[in-house]
Amino acid sequence: MKIKRIFCAFLAAFLASSVFCALPKSRFGENYDESKVPQFELPDVLSTPDGKFKATNAFEWMQVVRPQVLDYIQDQMYGYMPPRPKEMRFEVREESDGALGGIAIRRQIRIHLKDDGGEHFIDLLLYIPKNAKKPVPVFHGLNFCGNHSVVDDPAIFLPSGWVRNTSYPTLIVKDNKPHDEHRGKLGFRWPVEKLLKLGYAFSTAHYGDIYPDKEKEDSSADSIYKIFGKSSKFSKGPATIAWAWGNSRIIDCLQAQPEIDASKIAVTGQSRLGRTAILTGALDERVTLTLGNNPGCMGTAISRRRFGERIDLICKLFPFWFSPNLNKYFGKENELAVDQHNLVACIAPRLVYVASASEDYWGDPKGELMGLVEAENVYRLFGAKQMPKMENLEVEKPFHGDAMGFHLRKGAHNMMPYDWDNYIEFAQKHGW
Ligand code: GCU
Repeated sequence: MKIKRIFCAFLAAFLASSVFCALPKSRFGENYDESKVPQFELPDVLSTPDGKFKATNAFEWMQVVRPQVLDYIQDQMYGYMPPRPKEMRFEVREESDGALGGIAIRRQIRIHLKDDGGEHFIDLLLYIPKNAKKPVPVFHGLNFCGNHSVVDDPAIFLPSGWVRNTSYPTLIVKDNKPHDEHRGKLGFRWPVEKLLKLGYAFSTAHYGDIYPDKEKEDSSADSIYKIFGKSSKFSKGPATIAWAWGNSRIIDCLQAQPEIDASKIAVTGQSRLGRTAILTGALDERVTLTLGNNPGCMGTAISRRRFGERIDLICKLFPFWFSPNLNKYFGKENELAVDQHNLVACIAPRLVYVASASEDYWGDPKGELMGLVEAENVYRLFGAKQMPKMENLEVEKPFHGDAMGFHLRKGAHNMMPYDWDNYIEFAQKHGW
């Protein structure tokens, strides 16, 4: 009896310690304890932010509610998306039809952007399958460290400007400069050859070309905002919406490539760039497949859960990512007239997929899934039927529905082959 009791006490202590060990330490006062998630009520996904109108059909949603939601989220959260510049030019700087061991055309295009305040450019790296008989779908994603870090290919131009200092196991940058030896070092995130062999095009651009992510420093002056004149309300602005704008300018360029099927444009990205992918998909209807990889707080994770990263933390850690208006909601998520499900709903009826990671507590996988689940009523207006449920929060049991997809990869915050395998399977299920 006594031995049994001692064993039980030991087991309980062991279980308690293993649960404790499984949770990360709170670094900034963030919560990782599900029992401390506050009670909350979510804003109605079908209603305008002022609550005065509720859509009962897809037409009302598109005509009345969606524009007001998009206006609200830009005004209060992300800042307004700048307009298309007055002048744009696509300069092919280099092209080869013997890329990736001969299976692809590599085209490096400089996207020139010009408006009243000046000029700027974004360097796009595009691969197209060589023997395609008709225009092909494209997977596009912004990268963190330069186009040369995505594929090990000496012909890829190094970024011409600022590069973020990083300490990935495979790539360390300490001087904010690109380096030759970093070619392909983040290739594990981008299965370029696989995509090309499956008949898809792939494109990428360095996010620093759009807005240098100096995190605590306003980099508007070195970003795309500089093209808008000093008197323009877009002469400066936050980073995330700028990256989304960059994605839209890249889509302008992709649409102009005869080999690309402009009805099949997927936009993805990891983490801050996964959040950017979600924002791009919400604002730009040319994105027909939005793939948010670990999009986290201000991506699809429900802010009212206050789990992991929160609005106050993200704004303090990265003061130039969002509209200063967002600072009004520190600790007052309930006062926002929308939550992240309202943003996801703006992607409807187009395809959307979120990839979470089981150890990405900071990104709140449960909240990330909830952002999709709670958007379902809008997707239903368009006839979608197979909706994700909270039960889909199961490790490596992906959900691939008729409009939405989700999976929880085992492991840490990252973009891995497992994520891509599912993106591809989901795209194929939808006729890509
Ligand atoms: C930080 C930040 C996240 C962001 C992530 C990333 O962890 O707090 O919001 O998504 O960096 O981009 O890797």
